Amino acid sequence: MTDSNIIDGKAFAETLRARVGTLAASFEAQAGRKAGLAVVLVGEDPASQVYVRSKGKQTVACGMASFEHKLPADTDEASLLALVEALNADPAVDGILVQLPLPAHLDEQKVIATINPDKDVDGFHVINAGRLAVGQKGFVPCTPLGCLMLLKDRLGNLSGLDAVVIGRSNIVGKPMAQLLLGESCTVTIAHSRTKDLAEVVRRADIVVAAVGRAEMVKGDWIKPGATVIDVGINRVASLDPVAAAEGKTRLVGDVDFASVAPVAGAITPVPGGVGPMTIAVLLRNTLVAAHANAGIALAEGAI
Ligand code: GUN
Repeated sequence: MTDSNIIDGKAFAETLRARVGTLAASFEAQAGRKAGLAVVLVGEDPASQVYVRSKGKQTVACGMASFEHKLPADTDEASLLALVEALNADPAVDGILVQLPLPAHLDEQKVIATINPDKDVDGFHVINAGRLAVGQKGFVPCTPLGCLMLLKDRLGNLSGLDAVVIGRSNIVGKPMAQLLLGESCTVTIAHSRTKDLAEVVRRADIVVAAVGRAEMVKGDWIKPGATVIDVGINRVASLDPVAAAEGKTRLVGDVDFASVAPVAGAITPVPGGVGPMTIAVLLRNTLVAAHANAGIALAEGAI
């Protein structure tokens, strides 16, 4: 394979953010206000803090308003639900994102169910999951929608292709499978209990790996020429033994890039593949929400 077989999610995300920026400026001119995204972070999980900071920065860079709500780890359910209700009622807020995971004493499903589905830019509310399942318009979770954008950009029409999604989470695996079904792929959802996983993956024209197991998918699992989308972000010890002894780490995906890249027709790297797409799609979803909430038309396919 050549470099051209690397799917550059970072570049794609930059282009998408630039388009969002242009449309956000025209939204502001028409609505007399900026599109707004509220992000709620409960507790001090370091990875979540990094994501939330990055979301805030990119929201502002796109010309949208960012509202950050940081709550202590011991916040009770009633206070969190009251904040979500206040954001539902706030006309300056078009999109609401409650960063997951929440501390164990908080019921994630209850919190998500409290978000107004028309502000649910994460696409996690059962109403939006149901809309996706029956093919109605609604918000689609950002990571799988980003994966689909990369796939369509690379392959064009996906109709009739065999797709295997490894992972069945509500955030990635299930919505990814629904999106691929919507594109008329023949979809298999594989997971940790799947028998002969390598054999199942070998049938696929499209492989989406979202299991959370470092470098699990190997080159001899891949049909030559298949397109491989790696959603995994796993931190493992540095390859350099001295650095590893000092606790240095590196990021790897769920796909063993070294063995898969020579076999695949196209592959997303980690980092620089799917990762940058998630926030770019979140900003896109927020812009769509803003237009709907303000009653301003956004041309079909404009973004
Ligand atoms: N935690 C990890 N990814 C996500 C995401 O896309 N949305 C939310 N709300 N929390 C997350």
